[in-house]
Amino acid sequence: MTFGGNFGQKTPSVASRTKEPFTEPLKIHYFDSNATTSVAPEVLKAMLPYLTEEWGNPSSPYRLGKRLVEPIEAAREAVASLVGADSSEIVFTSCGTESINTAITSCLYSQPAKKHVVTTAIEHSATMNSCAALEKRGYEVTYLPVNRDGSLDLGTVAKALRPDTAVVSIMWANNETGVLFPIAKIAALCRERAILIHTDAVQTPGKLAIDVGELGVDLLSLSAHKLHGPKGIGSLYVRKGTPFWPLIIGGHQEEGNRGGTENVPYIAAFGRAAELARAIGPHDRRALAALRDSLEDEILARIPGTSRNGAKEPRLPNTSSISFAGIDAEALLLLLDQLKICASSGSACTTGSMAPSHVLTAMGLDPTEARGTLRFSLDYETTREDIAYLMNHLPRLVSELRAAASPRTLARSAGTRSELAAQPA
Ligand SMILES: Cc1ncc(COP(=O)(O)O)c(C=O)c1O
Repeated sequence: MTFGGNFGQKTPSVASRTKEPFTEPLKIHYFDSNATTSVAPEVLKAMLPYLTEEWGNPSSPYRLGKRLVEPIEAAREAVASLVGADSSEIVFTSCGTESINTAITSCLYSQPAKKHVVTTAIEHSATMNSCAALEKRGYEVTYLPVNRDGSLDLGTVAKALRPDTAVVSIMWANNETGVLFPIAKIAALCRERAILIHTDAVQTPGKLAIDVGELGVDLLSLSAHKLHGPKGIGSLYVRKGTPFWPLIIGGHQEEGNRGGTENVPYIAAFGRAAELARAIGPHDRRALAALRDSLEDEILARIPGTSRNGAKEPRLPNTSSISFAGIDAEALLLLLDQLKICASSGSACTTGSMAPSHVLTAMGLDPTEARGTLRFSLDYETTREDIAYLMNHLPRLVSELRAAASPRTLARSAGTRSELAAQPA
């Protein structure tokens, strides 16, 4: 995989100010598609006119601005088609995080007598921290526990629902393990009780077929940069008839549902990215899952003291979370980076905090096991050569790190992973 080809041209004024000038294309082996994806060439092409000659404000009364309404609405149609919605049900936002915050607060503000929120213990920080902030403002939040394999029992959900529950906000696919929650069944439970349901579907486009009608949710969040669009643009599906309260209040844009001058280039880009994601079919998804499985099987077979986190199915076709006993994942990531291999030690948004993943600890892993976990998230651009390159290096790096680890660290890890006894290093 080659990225950054356009940076090949010398631009001294910028390069001289940059610590590491982009002097040559970065050839990388990318296994971190759940963190973000590259902007597809078709997507870049779709957005460029709105960064150059078509720079007007869509609210202006003259043609330079007015004619931008059409590409915005075309993009809205494309995003609506991706999820099986009507275009009037799509609101553009600045990112997945804004969509999630908008969804949850909208349900609370539009039903002021209801002060209870239901979510799970393994949501993305966009939901977790939004709920934590709500708790400080007097709302009550139930964080549903998950099983060791990352699954959620429907009975647990049903028990948590109350007459004062304003919203159930549960992710469809977990970004760290890829494990799917049964959103259609959870939505049915909510509907029986007239409770609004939002799902964070940020990880699903291109990896699952999305149909809001079949899912039965009231609100659904997406983010373009997970589907080869740019960062900084998201969408919120709001089912017709759902009470709605905007989070960003300002001008009349987005039918008053989200103030702020429209980000036309990014909206156009999101529309094109949505078309590309919609063109991905079951055959492509099966091929992606087979590629992921080949990587996962090879790691588990060739590297002792490894185990998969999360149920094998139902799972996103691209994601694999693997714990390596006796390993500090951050150290392994640094070594991989030197070989131009990109992976993740959990959610990209929490990397750097060094706290063990809240997803893995909620699944019952101890902090040491969680800290020894890598996430590999593939993409339709991932090749067999990428996997061969990774597997050419990974077993050796793991052995070296284990050999370098202090006996105490190893003993601690071995206590949690009996398989490590068979490990020579
Ligand atoms: C499951 C999930 N939800 C929400 C988000 C936040 O999306 P954004 O980066 O567009 O704010 C992410 C991004 O990593 C995610 O993986």
